[in-house]
Amino acid sequence: MLTPDLLDRAVELLRRGGVIALPTETVYGLAANAEDELAVRRVFAIKGRPANHPLIVHIPDEEYLPEWAREVPDEATALARAFWPGPLTLVLKRTSKATDAVTGGQDTVALRVPGHSVAMEVLERLGGGVAAPSANRFGKVSPTTAEHVQRDLGSDVDLVLDGGPATVGVESTIVDLSSGAPAILRPGGLATEDIERVLGRAVPVRTSTTVRVSGSLESHYAPRAGVVLAEPHEAVQRVEALRAQGLRVGVLGPASLSLPTDVQRFDVPAEPAQAARVLYARLREADEQGHDVLVACLPAASGLGIAVRDRLSRAAAPRDS
Ligand code: TXA
Ligand code: MG
Repeated sequence: MLTPDLLDRAVELLRRGGVIALPTETVYGLAANAEDELAVRRVFAIKGRPANHPLIVHIPDEEYLPEWAREVPDEATALARAFWPGPLTLVLKRTSKATDAVTGGQDTVALRVPGHSVAMEVLERLGGGVAAPSANRFGKVSPTTAEHVQRDLGSDVDLVLDGGPATVGVESTIVDLSSGAPAILRPGGLATEDIERVLGRAVPVRTSTTVRVSGSLESHYAPRAGVVLAEPHEAVQRVEALRAQGLRVGVLGPASLSLPTDVQRFDVPAEPAQAARVLYARLREADEQGHDVLVACLPAASGLGIAVRDRLSRAAAPRDS
């Protein structure tokens, strides 16, 4: 249980340069006071993340935007009003408060108000910004429960706050509003259609940029097992072909698949938002069973299905040996 005492301790740790795991509605974050450069560097060290991959600064509410962003265009205000607290990150031109340690030396900063009561309570009590990447080792599957964080990072973090399973399940959608027309740098927990509805124009996905968006590296979110992607109608055939090669095959997909009875299936519903919610937990569970290959069924390419397909493609991408 999360007692007021524990929340006090979390805030005290952040004030003193500690690093804590913080639940959000998307995934668990590895959080440090964004104004404390040493603490921020510890986050990079714990994750094993290259220093030029910038972090998202989590703020208590929209009122804090001008402290971190020197220009807040009308479209940023419109999106913040519509979707914060929630799974949306805005990239804007930074103020000097956003240091090089956080931004990787860029002139922009990524900002978000998380929609989780524990994260919001901690941010409000702290009264400032918290830099938090996902609380996993670099390149691995993001954590959606406190237990995932414990297993991945254990004693490397000063405190793990348990806020229950993440309700969105994939990382925030990142929208760049720092120059020119808005663009999506990472599809995520907020559907592109919803963003376009508020802005009244098309918002393209632009993942090739000079900025290091780690989720945009080809291989990311990767379990130990190999991952093979399949549209639902081809999944069964894929499974059979891989088994014929003598491989131990697991399946991530809906109950409607008619699989051989001895094939282990990890339930990922066809409906995109439900798939997003359970995707990372199922990838972890499947990986623990020691399968050689996981055949992952792709959800429809709309709504949160875009983010799920994106994460699965990266999990399936060729890896460095
Ligand atoms: O849902 C989320 O966004 C989660 C939770 C904890 O809030 N956080 C998260 O952080 O996914 P992380 O570090 O795993 O991913 C943050 C992404 C990175 O790919 C990073 O490169 C990008 O945000 N990013 C940060 N600052 C940026 C900037 N100034 N310009 C472009 N991309 C930026
Ligand atoms: Mg991450």
